[in-house]
Amino acid sequence: MNITSSVTRNNMLAIVLVCVLCVCTDARPEKPTGEVTVMEKRYKTWLKQHGKTYNSKDEWNMRFGIYQSNLKFIEFVNAQNLSYKLTDNEFADMTNFEFQTTYLGYKRKGHWLPQNQQHSYNVGNYAIPSSIDWRKKGAVTRIKNQDSCGSCWAFSALGAVEAINQIKTGNLVSLSPQELVDCNFGLDNHGCSGGIMEKAYEFMMLNGGISSDEDYPYKGRQGLCNPIIARKIAASITGYVRIPERNETAMQAAVARQPISVAIDASASEFQLYADGVFTGSCGKKLNHGVLVVGYGKDKGVGYWIVKNSWGTGWGNKGYMKLHRGSSDKRGVCGVAMESSYPVKDF
Ligand SMILES: *[C@@H]1O[C@H](CO)[C@@H](O)[C@H](O)[C@H]1NC(C)=O
Ligand SMILES: *[C@@H]1O[C@H](CO)[C@@H](O)[C@H](O)[C@H]1NC(C)=O
Repeated sequence: MNITSSVTRNNMLAIVLVCVLCVCTDARPEKPTGEVTVMEKRYKTWLKQHGKTYNSKDEWNMRFGIYQSNLKFIEFVNAQNLSYKLTDNEFADMTNFEFQTTYLGYKRKGHWLPQNQQHSYNVGNYAIPSSIDWRKKGAVTRIKNQDSCGSCWAFSALGAVEAINQIKTGNLVSLSPQELVDCNFGLDNHGCSGGIMEKAYEFMMLNGGISSDEDYPYKGRQGLCNPIIARKIAASITGYVRIPERNETAMQAAVARQPISVAIDASASEFQLYADGVFTGSCGKKLNHGVLVVGYGKDKGVGYWIVKNSWGTGWGNKGYMKLHRGSSDKRGVCGVAMESSYPVKDF
């Protein structure tokens, strides 16, 4: 027996021993540490709360990892005593990238000029109240859920049409984003792949109006346009107005009259996991989401816009966000003052 083979035999023995040890630990897993147990309990409760199930144990584990990292982030932000808080809402098992690719859908391609039906912005002479909430005036429908379809633009535009229709006729009718997803599909708007609100207004003007949500219900995926239902008009508009950009005073004057559509940057993790309070960012200025501003006010001296989102009632404050108003950056927090508009109903 030479030295080499003796070393090899010792190594073999070591390998066998390690394997035996592996088998032992596999057979009787070590108890998870206290932190893991608490986390796992919390995760299981969260899964139940949100009715989440996954296809495999692997995905369960992967989602658990993402959930834990989101929780750490939530604790980190909430510890900073900011004007808003985050929470482990239904998006807490998604990475921020997944969230962005699933729930955002405001897309403007290159330079686009509004059509001639556009009216010019003219506030006129009227008193602008220090706060207003169109929900209290009965002009806002319930919170909707776009699901995993990038149709935010349709919800944003229709929210504004629902409101002006209620203000002018007294009837609050929930309108059909599915009709826009199916029928307003072309060069500018792309159903579940994104679109812009002003093009949705233009569609409604050409189509003579839009059907109700009841007649043309939401499916959350691209379908063929049903032209028969699309002719059952539940509300119509005569034009729309682009609000001057970088001017939150102009926005306020408009919201004093009616809810408005705004484009924002909703891609931040803070936005994904927002719970309550006046949201001051972080967020960028790359407009990628369409929402509805249904009012404004002030909390302890801090101005905010009341934002109606289309991510269900589980996100934010029952589906709503208070977004900071009066930022020193003229583009507004999350770019809220960069592109906003509202429909006109002249009869
Ligand atoms: C948290 O912020 C509020 C208002 O911004 C302030 O009044 C309060 O003292 C702060 N609390 C802590 C613990 O920093
Ligand atoms: C912003 O809009 C208001 C209301 O329309 C207007 O009076 C004001 O001059 C505008 N400010 C700027 C900087 O354009």
